[in-house]
Amino acid sequence: MKPIEIAKGIYWVGVADWNVRDFHGYFIPAGSTYNAYLILDDKVTLIDTVKKEFADQLLDNIAQIIDPRKIDYMISNHTEMDHSGGLPRVMSEIGADKPLYCSKMGQKNLSLHFQEKWNYQPVENGGVLNLGKRSLTFLETRMLHWPDSMFSYVKEEQLLFSSDAFGEHYAGPERFDDEVGEAIMPHARKYFANILLLYAPLILQLVEKVTQMGLTIKTICPDHGIIWRQDPSKIIKAYVEWSQQKPKKKAVVVYDTMWHSTQILAEAIVDGLSQTGVEAKPFHLRASHRSDVITEILDAGAVIVGSPTLNNGLFPTVADFLTYMKGLKPNKKIAAAFGSYGWSGEAVKLINKELEEMKFELIDPGLKIQFIPGPQGIEAAVQLGRKVGQALQNL
Ligand code: FEO
Repeated sequence: MKPIEIAKGIYWVGVADWNVRDFHGYFIPAGSTYNAYLILDDKVTLIDTVKKEFADQLLDNIAQIIDPRKIDYMISNHTEMDHSGGLPRVMSEIGADKPLYCSKMGQKNLSLHFQEKWNYQPVENGGVLNLGKRSLTFLETRMLHWPDSMFSYVKEEQLLFSSDAFGEHYAGPERFDDEVGEAIMPHARKYFANILLLYAPLILQLVEKVTQMGLTIKTICPDHGIIWRQDPSKIIKAYVEWSQQKPKKKAVVVYDTMWHSTQILAEAIVDGLSQTGVEAKPFHLRASHRSDVITEILDAGAVIVGSPTLNNGLFPTVADFLTYMKGLKPNKKIAAAFGSYGWSGEAVKLINKELEEMKFELIDPGLKIQFIPGPQGIEAAVQLGRKVGQALQNL
């Protein structure tokens, strides 16, 4: 993809990764972009790089605008290797002695990634770097997405380089929000649910801090996906809404099954939920990816988890999902467990333990049915669905 001018003298010089489908366990069917930005000023400045294997493509993009060796300053907003993997190649091209600006934690983490004695220039929160006609103000945004993360803000253009925040894993021909329209929002939502959900309290604090600082933002340039130039407030408002996790009258029933017995229970639970008028969605974990399920859970008021007992434990996909969900720390959920078993039947107890550790509100001891559910077992599952549905009505 060719470089694109975003504002006078400021260019997107990133790359599209059309074929990537996995981002540390999150399924990204639309690929991704690794966005890097070039600022032409008295001091020519590059913000972030790309994955290692795309470093030459990044340098080719820059060379269409200016000789990369004329870059004066390198900015690293985030150490994760989708943005820093190209640093060794870029630094060797532009000159390894050029100043490399990053947060203090960025210096530490980059040093642990790359055994290079680069000319690190750690910056403080609120620090300003003069480029000539413009300046960059640095805002530390610890844990969005890593402890080293920071934003860089160009006051003169009211333009925010937001690193991982406000991005999407989406590779397409479009570069801007007005080109892609509403179709980008499901990608942004899935990205939030799978990358940033656990930092929701920090996001709310950050938005408040930025509001208090009176920063006007005309354009948001994230490190993934599209640039928000038509309506940056749209993605900020969406982040606030997603971070608040206001529970809807919606239940996600997530399960796996060995011989369809736990599936029969799942479908009966969905029937019971539907009878109370709440939205109910079942997800079989070998038909749906964990990252799609967690996206559905983002605004669900209830999560009901089912597993058969396999070898005295959880079915592996259910254990995988519980680990994934626990790490992302969704909150404000009511929950219940269910499952078919043959003789020992530990799965429901194990699910309950995980749900309690997630601080979900368990509203039932859980439903265990031996082998194949008969009419009574199915009715018990319908009643469990109704119980959860009625609890959701009272939210
Ligand atoms: Fe896009 Fe946290 O890396």
